[in-house]
Amino acid sequence: MTRAFSFLLGLTLLALANFGKVLAVFDDEVDSIDWHLDNIGNYEFVLSTVVEDGSDQLVIVSSLGDKSLLSWVNSTDGKVLDRLPLDIQALNAATSSHNELILVNEDGARIIVDLLTGSEVPNRIESIDSDILSPCRPDMSLIQLAGKKLKVLDQNKEQVVFLHELPEDFKEVVFFNSHDDGDFDIIISTDSQKFHFLRVADYRLSQSWTRDESVANIKAFAFVSAKDSSSARLFAEISQEESLNFIEAYAYRVRQNVQRLTSYLAGKNFSVGSIVKELLLGEDDEVTSLQKDISFGFMKYLIVATDKGKILNLDARSGKKIWSIDTHLEDILKLEATSFDTELLVITKSGTSLTFEISIIEKEPFLLSKSKLPANSFVEPFADGDFVYLELEDHSKMVLNRSRKASEDSFLLYHDETQLSSHLYKNEALEETWRIYLDGEEKILAFCERDQSPVVSLGSILGNRTVLYKYLYPYLAAYITGDSTTNIMTVRIIDIATGELVHSVSHNDTVDLTSSINLVVGENWVVYTYFSNDPLPEQKIGVIELYESLTPNVRLSSGSSAADPLSNVLRPEVVQKAYMYPETIKNLALTKTKFGITIRSVVLELENGQITSLPKFILNARRIEESLMSADDKKEFLNSPYVSAIPVSDFTILTHHRRVLSGPNSHLISVPTNLESTSIVCSLGHDLFCTKVTPSSQFDKLKPSFQKGQLISTVVGLFVLCFFIRPMVDTKKLKTKWLVKS
Ligand SMILES: *[C@@H]1O[C@H](CO)[C@@H](O)[C@H](O)[C@H]1NC(C)=O
Ligand SMILES: *[C@@H]1O[C@H](CO)[C@@H](O)[C@H](O)[C@H]1NC(C)=O
Ligand SMILES: *[C@@H]1O[C@H](CO)[C@@H](O)[C@H](O)[C@H]1NC(C)=O
Ligand SMILES: *[C@@H]1O[C@H](CO)[C@@H](O)[C@H](O)[C@H]1NC(C)=O
Ligand SMILES: *[C@@H]1O[C@H](CO)[C@@H](O)[C@H](O)[C@H]1NC(C)=O
Repeated sequence: MTRAFSFLLGLTLLALANFGKVLAVFDDEVDSIDWHLDNIGNYEFVLSTVVEDGSDQLVIVSSLGDKSLLSWVNSTDGKVLDRLPLDIQALNAATSSHNELILVNEDGARIIVDLLTGSEVPNRIESIDSDILSPCRPDMSLIQLAGKKLKVLDQNKEQVVFLHELPEDFKEVVFFNSHDDGDFDIIISTDSQKFHFLRVADYRLSQSWTRDESVANIKAFAFVSAKDSSSARLFAEISQEESLNFIEAYAYRVRQNVQRLTSYLAGKNFSVGSIVKELLLGEDDEVTSLQKDISFGFMKYLIVATDKGKILNLDARSGKKIWSIDTHLEDILKLEATSFDTELLVITKSGTSLTFEISIIEKEPFLLSKSKLPANSFVEPFADGDFVYLELEDHSKMVLNRSRKASEDSFLLYHDETQLSSHLYKNEALEETWRIYLDGEEKILAFCERDQSPVVSLGSILGNRTVLYKYLYPYLAAYITGDSTTNIMTVRIIDIATGELVHSVSHNDTVDLTSSINLVVGENWVVYTYFSNDPLPEQKIGVIELYESLTPNVRLSSGSSAADPLSNVLRPEVVQKAYMYPETIKNLALTKTKFGITIRSVVLELENGQITSLPKFILNARRIEESLMSADDKKEFLNSPYVSAIPVSDFTILTHHRRVLSGPNSHLISVPTNLESTSIVCSLGHDLFCTKVTPSSQFDKLKPSFQKGQLISTVVGLFVLCFFIRPMVDTKKLKTKWLVKS
């Protein structure tokens, strides 16, 4: 009887456990974890083209860095359909009768693009001049601008057929296209880089949209975390408890928790139904999910400065604009959130420096102070922005003191193409410690200081349970130089306290010094990328790893004291490897997480507009060919045989289907969140793109759709089971004692 009952109960539990939603294997989260502002830029030439299905599209010529960009835009809603970066800077544009766009640069070189396919057409120089029908400039003969009004005249220029109120900061008419049936399209631009499209049918406005192109060409950025009021309350409670004795503190905590429970119940109107529903279905309402984003540290504000001097605050989760201010400073070098994220410091190349109050981050900030510094070429705030290191145009250096606190001793590094120098800032005096000049044709192409994230493991554990101790000396930097006469590239790792060379590697495989050369320095390793032409044109990734000793279990540093930069004599032993990569790499970054436990990944921005990530264990300098691997080597965690070519894995493309055109001098960055597993990665330049990456998957976060119901029903089931089984066990024990047979 009881057996039958437990069986039934078991069945019920099983059924309950399987009751619930079916989870797809691939949860496509594209638009919920990332966002992309696909900018066009300033519309230089606009034309319209009719595509196969009879609908019309706009083709816009704008700039991407110092080259031209061609964009196809849906004229119904203003969405970008496709973009094509070109190899020339177009000064002039015209269309031919073959539905082709002809772009001419300063030297008269031209490119012909088929507007339907977007492909380049071979140059038919002889026949071009006769082909040219219309230059891509709006025909203004039917347009009159009077005051703040735009008037469109009829073909005979007698009557005004359309009247439009212009925006306050109207700049110009960039496009006017009148159709055969008398309808026409107009695009007007404003000083604030907004482009308004108007379609007029039957002399009436039938359609309009506006594209905001002002959030483009990011020069500087800063991240500000949302303040978590609940954690502030917890801190207050804990510090209150510390001042009480044990009993009082316990009573205080119980009281606080009871209060929290009652306010929770009151919030649910004491309705058991809604509490159970929330527990079982677990769909977060807006307030709860916002609170989660804040406590997980996803809720960050991304403050960016554009090349037009606009400063914007964006919600880093969605790219939504929160506020924007116009400083009209076109040479902003640095933005820095200082004084515990309550002030925003803006520094420009010409020396103007502004401080804004941003303690209420959702509200438009106000100017606290404005000051004039000497014109400078390099700015680096340090010590939470209390001090700013400046390199002036005459190469003298100064430190701007913004606080009343004394500074800690800091090493300040400066580099340009031909020199590297280090200063020690101590007792408000700047003292040069060392300087390296490069001679001849050698130039510095990349520079990176060691990442100062926390280090969690002191060594790499090998397959036979021995340890290789990592070289974790923190004052390291690396730089890459290239010699344009020999095309030899040299990677040097230096000690920033003394300027001493720690290690150097040269590559003489005909390095292309004009392509992007990048470098990141992690805890005990350096990863760098370059393009070489020998023996075949190929993208290469080099890895250098530094160990205290390459003999396992040998530790030379003392574990108890922190490394002293002035008396460090320990030199690392080095392993290095090179890999090949199938795509050209434009930019590199390192994922940063709060505690550094998550596997480090290198984020690669590719020349083709994709962003992908590569876990560091793939870029391992100790990988060896399979035939040389011992059985113990194969046991090492995440170790795999050396294969020179690293493939691009579709699963690691962070941009999915998107194409990010970041332009030259863009920023690729990673910022940690409060969740150890998750890091925010952004590419800021012509386009803006942000996403969340989880290099070791989301080990510390359950999905909102996590099967709470099953878990709760299992726990309840177990309770019920215990409730029935316990009397049975007791009876059995009793019977055994009395030697009664059951
Ligand atoms: C253009 O936008 C309209 C409205 O959003 C849409 O219906 C149409 O399919 C779009 N056209 C293209 C080519 O995407
Ligand atoms: C509780 O009641 C108030 C007022 O009656 C209502 O506005 C609120 O939405 C209710 N809350 C819930 C969780 O049902
Ligand atoms: C610079 O820092 C010192 C602390 O050592 C402080 O006394 C001084 O007031 C600061 N100067 C300014 C201009 O704030
Ligand atoms: C452990 O493995 C490493 C690397 O394969 C080797 O150098 C070392 O001698 C091995 N140690 C022992 C005790 O087997
Ligand atoms: C590159 O350097 C290596 C080692 O120094 C040398 O053997 C090789 O000939 C050099 N190759 C070229 C192309 O200079």
